[in-house]
Amino acid sequence: MLLSIDHVQKSYPGGRPVLNDVSLTLEQGQTLALTGESGSGKSTLLHLVAALDGFDGGEITLDGRPMSSLNDIERAALRRNTLSLVFQQFNLIPSLTIAQNLSIHARLAKREDPEWIEHLTKRLGLADLRNRYPEQLSGGQQQRVAIGRAMAIRPRLLLADEPTGNLDETASAVVLDLMLSLVADTGAALLLVTHSNEIANRLDRRAHLTGGRIE
Ligand SMILES: Nc1ncnc2c1ncn2[C@@H]1O[C@H](COP(=O)(O)OP(=O)(O)O)[C@@H](O)[C@H]1O
Ligand SMILES: [Mg+2]
Repeated sequence: MLLSIDHVQKSYPGGRPVLNDVSLTLEQGQTLALTGESGSGKSTLLHLVAALDGFDGGEITLDGRPMSSLNDIERAALRRNTLSLVFQQFNLIPSLTIAQNLSIHARLAKREDPEWIEHLTKRLGLADLRNRYPEQLSGGQQQRVAIGRAMAIRPRLLLADEPTGNLDETASAVVLDLMLSLVADTGAALLLVTHSNEIANRLDRRAHLTGGRIE
């Protein structure tokens, strides 16, 4: 079991509980679509899995490590080495070239593998765009860079929060195909938040978040 979310509870200060009793598991190599209405807590759950925020009850175990027992340094190491994130906003660094954006996370994690990054660059159709800057790319191209940056560390888990939410239909299809094929090739698991039934149906499993629980 790569990821186990066990009876997790989460409230923000002064607010109602966002996650009441969420349980979910993900095997290595599996792809799971997380759906739910706006405000149902999908992004919150992804943040918890990414060890970016703490929770109030239950446990999240990633790669055999119960998150509630980790200190800040161990959480940071888990983020750097085990998982990657792709967001609706591409979050590229405007002052860096495409090539530099692609390798930045792997470099910071001291996991830079130039051959793998070269392979990703070609696979994502970015070879001719290497020396450009993010503002010179279309949305679909920028999201392909974000996927490359995420996959550059060969994560065991890719977390994607509405990754095609800012893209038109054609660019969405390309981005989803690339993400699914890279995840399949590397044996990574994928937890993807989406509003689209069409996208959700292409993944191995679906989970629906409503009323603070998985339906
Ligand atoms: N940092 C925060 N502080 C306080 N409330 C938050 C914060 N982030 C999200 N919320 C609230 O938690 C609920 C779930 O938000 P979110 O996880 O973003 O939902 P979704 O991604 O499904 O749209 C919403 O009511 C939202 O307003
Ligand atoms: Mg969200």
